[in-house]
Amino acid sequence: MPLTPVLSKRFGTQQPWKIENYERLDGYAALRKALTMAPDDLIAMVKDSNLRGRGGAGFPTGMKWQFIPQAKPGEPVKPHYVVINADEGEPGTCRDLPLMMNDPHSMIEGIIIACYAVRAEHAFVYIRGEAVHAIRRVTAAVNEARAKGYLGRNILGSGFGCDITVHAGAGAYICGEETALLDSLEGRRGQPRLKPPFPATNGLYDAPTVVNNVGTLASVPYIVLGGADWFKEMGPEGSPGPNVYSLSGRVANPGQYEAPMGSTLRELLELAGGMSRGKELKFWTPGGSSTPLFTREHLDTPLDFDATVKAGSMNGTSAVQLFDEDDCVVRAVKKWSEFYRHESCGKCTPCREGTYWYVGIYERLENGAGTEEDLETLLDLSDNILGRSFCALGDGATSPVSSSIKYFRDEYLAHVEGKGCPFASDRALAGAH
Ligand SMILES: Cc1cc2nc3c(=O)[nH]c(=O)nc-3n(C[C@H](O)[C@H](O)[C@H](O)COP(=O)(O)O)c2cc1C
Ligand code: SF4
Repeated sequence: MPLTPVLSKRFGTQQPWKIENYERLDGYAALRKALTMAPDDLIAMVKDSNLRGRGGAGFPTGMKWQFIPQAKPGEPVKPHYVVINADEGEPGTCRDLPLMMNDPHSMIEGIIIACYAVRAEHAFVYIRGEAVHAIRRVTAAVNEARAKGYLGRNILGSGFGCDITVHAGAGAYICGEETALLDSLEGRRGQPRLKPPFPATNGLYDAPTVVNNVGTLASVPYIVLGGADWFKEMGPEGSPGPNVYSLSGRVANPGQYEAPMGSTLRELLELAGGMSRGKELKFWTPGGSSTPLFTREHLDTPLDFDATVKAGSMNGTSAVQLFDEDDCVVRAVKKWSEFYRHESCGKCTPCREGTYWYVGIYERLENGAGTEEDLETLLDLSDNILGRSFCALGDGATSPVSSSIKYFRDEYLAHVEGKGCPFASDRALAGAH
């Protein structure tokens, strides 16, 4: 597999988060180039690169930028905003924090370029509140960028100006959902908004807003410098570029691995030293717990936005969590369901009640009081949550439940017949998130 250290090329160098070190390795060269281009040409370049959002849904970034309505000559200009989603709450996901800790300026450079492209004068970075280290690091980097004239009025003498505010969230998974994030940023309780209208027309303070993930915007300076064709050389054409996969669980060397989009788990495992404990892979998430489980059958499935869907799951956040033959799938799904029950914002009935019922049934299965009918109830609940919930949190909660019953029905039945978990408790999974 050709290794392409792009996003992580500065990781491991001398204090890569300091602006002088960033500048030494091409830092802010893309911004200088972008400021010589027409904003619409920049949008066209990002569109042409086929960059797709790394936050989970894989929406084409250039298209999202193009949706921001621009005033015609003589019309009053409405403010536009760029909001960076750095909430990173999906279980198993650990890509945005390492990016912000190691290389905050690539995200900041991407933000300034995005602001210039969509004609926004203010950006907000919404960082998960518990990540105090990242909040400090990004705040320091924003201050450095401002002191060097990359932020503020008349950036590098271009006539364009913008600034960045770093905002600390309060640690709710739902605040990663883009409209709940906007409500939270406005000072309200974070709950999803009805869509349409979409943030592109009615976002922050009811103004046109781009919401992008950290990894998405950190990719932008490389596209501007390397060009769309160079970017498309990495990975499949419909879903290209460098990606940071986070591997956790039963893997010899857990951590972040940069590899082109479309890499397979077999290839990633080679990079990560294989499974830990010398056991066989049993099940895994390709992109966090909200993506349907994969099994050994999917070791060679390319991990990109299209191929994962074709194989019955999703690329999600590229958070690969691995479980081996000694791990109980019922127990893992129980832990995830507890997470969704806890994080459900309660706004809509299918998700609020459905995740509560999930947990009750999983407790019964684990405690030996489960019945075969419970499996049908789990599937019935999933049918009633999927597509009927107000936001994608509810849909995501059904993914581990339905996919685990699809692949491991026998293991569920063993819990019913054996009156409890057949796995020795010391070998069973202690915690799944
Ligand atoms: C419950 C929930 C949590 C989410 N959490 C995040 C998150 O932490 N970070 C993120 O970038 N996107 C998250 N998303 C996806 C965002 O709603 C949105 O699609 C994304 O920020 C868009 O950025 P992108 O186009 O650059 O991917 C979440 C979605 C849902 C439904
Ligand atoms: S699906 Fe869940 S998280 Fe989303 S609005 Fe409904 S209750 Fe809230």
